[in-house]
Amino acid sequence: MSEEYYRELEKKYVYGTWRYENTWNPVVVDRADGCHFTSLSGKRYLDLSSQLMCSNIGHRSQAVIDAIAEQAEKLCYAAPGFATVPAALLGQKLAEITPEGLTKSFLTNGGAEANEAAIKIARLYTGKTKLISRYRSYHGASSGAIALTGDPRTQHAIGMPGVVRAPDCYCYRCPFGKEYPGCGVTCAEYVDEIIRMEGPGTVAGVVVEPIVGSNGILVPPDPYVPRLREICDDHGVLLIDDEVMAGFGRTGRMFCIEHWGVEPDIMSMAKGITGALFPVGATITSQEIADHFDQPGNLFSHGQTYAMHPLGCAAALAAIQEYEDKGLVENAARMGKVLEKRLRGLAESHKSVGDVRGKGLFWGIELVRDRETKEPFVTRKQKFEPNTLKRVSAAAMEMGVYVVNIINTLIVAPPLIATEKEIDEGIEVLDKALEVSDKEAG
Ligand SMILES: Cc1ncc(COP(=O)(O)O)c(C=O)c1O
Repeated sequence: MSEEYYRELEKKYVYGTWRYENTWNPVVVDRADGCHFTSLSGKRYLDLSSQLMCSNIGHRSQAVIDAIAEQAEKLCYAAPGFATVPAALLGQKLAEITPEGLTKSFLTNGGAEANEAAIKIARLYTGKTKLISRYRSYHGASSGAIALTGDPRTQHAIGMPGVVRAPDCYCYRCPFGKEYPGCGVTCAEYVDEIIRMEGPGTVAGVVVEPIVGSNGILVPPDPYVPRLREICDDHGVLLIDDEVMAGFGRTGRMFCIEHWGVEPDIMSMAKGITGALFPVGATITSQEIADHFDQPGNLFSHGQTYAMHPLGCAAALAAIQEYEDKGLVENAARMGKVLEKRLRGLAESHKSVGDVRGKGLFWGIELVRDRETKEPFVTRKQKFEPNTLKRVSAAAMEMGVYVVNIINTLIVAPPLIATEKEIDEGIEVLDKALEVSDKEAG
C-alpha cells in the first residue's frame, strides 16, 4: 500500500493535534535512525528539531530497545501498589542526576502528567492554591497543565482556577519596553509584586521553563532565574522548574536550570528522559516535600494506572546510560557552539532574521518583516493559520530537512548526537528556505 493510502487512512480515523483537521497532510514516517527519518515512500529527512524537541539520543538506540525487550520478557506491568526493580533504580538515578536537594520522584507517562503531579504536590504540600506562570509558556494539554499554559493553546481550555499570569522574560520584545541590564530585570521583580498583591499566603508556586521552549526559545539574562529563587524563598513560595523540553542535555547541561546554579523545589521532566523512545515523565521533589508526605496523616493524594510503568522505567534507565556513555550532554555543548556560529551567519545574510537565541542544541530563529520595527510575520492569533513560517518549514521539508515552526520562531534543536557535518547540511537547507521569508519581508 502507498504512502498516500496510509495518510488518508490516518486522516480519516485518527485526530491530528492542534490543527484544523482538514488542513492536515502529514508525511507518513516509516523508519528512523540517528538524526534522520524516512517516509513510507522512501524520502529521507534530516531532523533539525528532534521531532518535538524530544528525540535527544537519536532516533534509534539498540541499548534502549534491548532494555525494553528484556524488561518485557520479565515483567511488562505491575500495578503501582507494587514496587519493581526498574522503578526503584530510576528513582535513585533521577535523584543522582538532578540538582542537589531533589530526591524523590513521581513517575508518569509524559510531560503534562508530570506537571499535573507538580501542581497537585505543590498544593498539597503548601496548603495554598494559586500558581504563577507566564504568558509565553506551554506546560501540557491536560486540564491543569493547559491552565498553567499561557500560549494560544490555552484558549479553549476550561481552566483550572488559581492561575495568575506573570509577564514574560523576553528581551527581544520586552513587555516593559526596557533593555537588559538597565532594566534591572523588571520581569523578575514584577513576580515579587504579583506575590505581594495576591498574598504570599495564597501562592503555592511559581512555574517556569528556565529557557522557554515552544514559545520561542526565550533565554533569560543570567540574574533572572536566581532572582526568582530569592523571591520565592522570601515569600515561602515553591519554585517549580518545567524541564520537559529543556532538560536532558538539550541546552548543554543535564538540566537547564544548572546554567544558573539554582535548585528548584520541584522539577518536571519527560521527552529526553527516554529520548522519546518510550512515553515517560517524572516529577522530582525536594527532600522537605518528601518528608512532608512521610508524616502520618499527610496523604499523597495522586496516582495513575501506568505510574512507574516497568517498561518505561527500563527505557529511561537505558536512555540515561546512553547520555552518560556517549557524552551527549558534552556533545550538545560543543556542537551548540558550531550551531550558534552558523545561525549567526544566517542572520547576517537574511534580512528576515530578527533574532537568534539559544544555548546548547536549543535555538530559535525569530523572523520579522522589518528588522527596525521588529514586525513579526506571525502573531499569536495567527498561530493556527497558514503563514510565512509554515511556508519556510514547508520549503525546508521539500529539500529534505524538518524544522519546527511555532508562532514566529523556527526551532533548531537537532538530536544531541548531531555531527558538524549534519549541522552544516541542515544550515545549507535553512539558508535556501529563508529565501521564502526574505521575499515576504518588507
Ligand atoms: C515545557 C513543556 N512542558 C510540558 C509539555 C507537555 O509534555 P507532553 O506533551 O509530553 O504532555 C511540553 C510539551 O511540549 C513542554 O514543552
